[in-house]
Amino acid sequence: MSTTNPVRGRLNAGFFRLVDRYVHHVLGDRKAALFADLPGTVVELGAGTGANMRHYPAGTRLIAVEPNPPMHGPLRDAASRHGVELEIHAVGAEDTGLADGSIDAVVSTLVLCTVDDPGAVVAEVRRILRPGGRFLVLEHVAAPDGSPLARLQRGLRSGWRWAFEGCDLRRRHTGELLADAGFADVALERYRAGSVFLPVDDQVAGTLRR
Ligand SMILES: C[S@@+](CC[C@H](N)C(=O)[O-])C[C@H]1O[C@@H](n2cnc3c(N)ncnc32)[C@H](O)[C@@H]1O
Repeated sequence: MSTTNPVRGRLNAGFFRLVDRYVHHVLGDRKAALFADLPGTVVELGAGTGANMRHYPAGTRLIAVEPNPPMHGPLRDAASRHGVELEIHAVGAEDTGLADGSIDAVVSTLVLCTVDDPGAVVAEVRRILRPGGRFLVLEHVAAPDGSPLARLQRGLRSGWRWAFEGCDLRRRHTGELLADAGFADVALERYRAGSVFLPVDDQVAGTLRR
């Protein structure tokens, strides 16, 4: 989705700020490894309230593709705290408006669960990346069928989707979608994050090179 409910949008922005330190505690090391060696300009899809800002070296130019206005204030605050030059593009990641083959690195964390058409987003990422450019992802995915976590995800799915504005706990094909999207190199790891947020604990992360 590329618009937000004014009330839930604000609540979500508040929620992501509230859990920021905890999420960093759980995923910080993995993200630090994933985001090592970033180029000077980075495109981040669904940058939210700026959870990844701490991983961008000061002086990085960040093009944040974030359609939801309630996220923009906290995102600007986070950018100024970390010395990141922020450009917000208030559009959906399905159509960024960026030129073909113009970008060295695209980041997406916990976003492909929420967009309406993840296939279109991944195709858009391929379009804007230069040959050799990198797509760095960290996403939650559906737990294996029959597992207790899968049952929990099914039970919470519709309420969760409403509360988190489109976030689908059972979006099962994110890993496969990435692996089959036509990138030259794909290095993805599936893991359990080990957080208290069990419904989103099953995750995939890694790098795809165009
Ligand atoms: C679960 S939050 C994750 C935020 C952040 N990436 C993080 O790791 O904390 C999902 C984000 O995707 C954004 N979003 C929703 N639909 C989108 C779309 N079509 N294109 C880009 N971002 C979108 C939401 O506004 C929200 O900021």
